[in-house]
Amino acid sequence: MTDIIIDPHLSTVCKVLTEMMRKLLIVLRTTTIKEKVPSQDSNLISSCLNFLRIFLSRERIRLDNRDACPNPEKIVMTYLAFSVIWSLGANIVDDQRTLFGEYFRNQMKLHMPEFPKGDVFDFGISKDHQLQSWSEQLPKFEFDPKQNFFEILVPTTDTVKFKYLLATLMYNDCNVLMTGETGVGKSVIIKDFLMKSEEAIVSAFVNFSGKTSCRNLQDAFEGNLEAKRKTLLGPPAGKKMIFFVDDVNMPQLEKYGAQPPCELLR
Ligand SMILES: Nc1ncnc2c1ncn2[C@@H]1O[C@H](COP(=O)(O)OP(=O)(O)O)[C@@H](O)[C@H]1O
Ligand SMILES: [Mg+2]
Repeated sequence: MTDIIIDPHLSTVCKVLTEMMRKLLIVLRTTTIKEKVPSQDSNLISSCLNFLRIFLSRERIRLDNRDACPNPEKIVMTYLAFSVIWSLGANIVDDQRTLFGEYFRNQMKLHMPEFPKGDVFDFGISKDHQLQSWSEQLPKFEFDPKQNFFEILVPTTDTVKFKYLLATLMYNDCNVLMTGETGVGKSVIIKDFLMKSEEAIVSAFVNFSGKTSCRNLQDAFEGNLEAKRKTLLGPPAGKKMIFFVDDVNMPQLEKYGAQPPCELLR
């Protein structure tokens, strides 16, 4: 972090984050709050730091310039709040998110008294660095009769929210695991995001099933990448490759309980 922000912001971030992590990790581990996928404290903390690193390196120049940015402390706290919500909170089962939100708000208010009321998962960040409901950022839906019916994505708060999270993480070289019940729109959101992504990004889809083997996964990688040298594969020159592995939990368990294609991915 030292190369991204400088004092006094750095020491504030360290102090507030250490305190929040201590309090909220105890809440996560000792109350009735349940997670979707079992996690380690270190996973959650590094996810939080990934978000903060991305946001603060983007805002670095402005934070140093009091004329362009009269209230840098508030901007830092806003991004810190968002980063904690979407790391420690992102993995919590739906019906216990409100409870987590209350614990989080009580902690956050100690450092940011103006932290708004409402569902903490409902806040995105506006262009002027304020917490703002995702519903205020909804693009207008325009029906295009020429578009294939199955390719239509109706903008909802979820599509806006998850595309923002995907863009923030994926454009900054972080891997993302998106979980959720079947039929909630994970695949369509990710496909739409990849199809409309920046020009420097190329993408490939791999669909896992019960019968997917390590060989299938290796073929998918080799088939989508270019040979750079004898033993080196890579994306086309000047591009970044994103692999979207759909239904990653599907491969059959082997004798000892592992899923070989998932182990290869790891
Ligand atoms: N925002 C949306 N706009 C249009 N169709 C949607 C939207 N969200 C979900 N769907 C439809 O719901 C169905 C299930 O979505 P899908 O992405 O396959 O779910 P998942 O991958 O979470 O199991 C698909 O037919 C998809 O087209
Ligand atoms: Mg799917």
